[in-house]
Amino acid sequence: MNDLNEIVSQAKTAFAASTTLAALDQAKARFLGKGGLITEQMKGLGAMSPEARKEAGVRINQAKTEVEELLRMRREAIQAEALEAQLRQEALDVTLPGRGGGVGGLHPVTRTLQRIERLFASIGFDIAEGPEIETDFYNFTALNIPEDHPARAMHDTFYLDNGQLLRTHTSPVQVRYMQGHPPPLRIIAPGRVYRCDSDVTHTPMFHQVEGLWVDETVSFADLKGVLADFMARFFEREQLPVRFRASFFPFTEPSAEMDIGCVICEGAGCRVCSQTGWLEVLGCGMVHPKVFAHVGIDAERWQGFAFGLGVERLAMLRYGVDDLRLFFENDIRFLRQFA
Ligand code: PHE
Repeated sequence: MNDLNEIVSQAKTAFAASTTLAALDQAKARFLGKGGLITEQMKGLGAMSPEARKEAGVRINQAKTEVEELLRMRREAIQAEALEAQLRQEALDVTLPGRGGGVGGLHPVTRTLQRIERLFASIGFDIAEGPEIETDFYNFTALNIPEDHPARAMHDTFYLDNGQLLRTHTSPVQVRYMQGHPPPLRIIAPGRVYRCDSDVTHTPMFHQVEGLWVDETVSFADLKGVLADFMARFFEREQLPVRFRASFFPFTEPSAEMDIGCVICEGAGCRVCSQTGWLEVLGCGMVHPKVFAHVGIDAERWQGFAFGLGVERLAMLRYGVDDLRLFFENDIRFLRQFA
């Protein structure tokens, strides 16, 4: 009998010393397993008299039940500890301060594009788009740019291996749009253009907005009115002086460049306008009959004007940014000022 008490107390110590379920299983085997101490006791029953066996059997079973109970309690304790440890490790401190969400803003070039689109949409212009990868035909030939024109030279145009090119201006959209839409038509075509050129005032990619208005009576006077009105509204001026200088583009005739009175110095002369009081802002002209011919529009009946303006240039003037490259470096301290 003392043996049994001793075994139970040994089991209690062994279980308490087990800190993992695996160790506990090993300890269990030492008492309840095949050759375990309790099991050994059972084996001794056979040699006893019936009376003694009955009594001893009851005692051994009691001891076995006690050991099993001790085992069960220890197993639960180990499991509870493990759960506790896991919960402690995975705990979230909901009182920690939050990380704070940064609020982004539209890029100044995007804002300028949207402003230009809004102003032209308000006077009935639709918005058209064309591909940035173009063919020689749309970028040059259909725009009456002859083979030997300097704009075709390698130093201006990015050519692809397959003979296509990155459009050097948005004017090919004029051609594509007129192919699919009979006049009258009135569109602007905003988008990216590419030139193999990079210095303080040129980046290899920049944005243009093309404009095209074709109808039976559209004249150069309409061109001047629309563009002068647009510039005044863009720069939020009651009066904004404009002037048109004769120029040359193969796809317009006559052609002009438009200047506005310098919005930085109000015409007095400054570094931005090179002391002239004027800023060159766009190229324009009346659509050349040869362009109409390429898209099957009768130049005897229809006429129109076209223009192309540089978006970064307008953004720089509107926001007072004096370095073009700032638009493309994406320095958060610069961009944040427009949010
Ligand atoms: N495509 C010309 C350029 O990139 C601008 C332009 C467009 C001029 C339409 C006249 C008419 O310089």
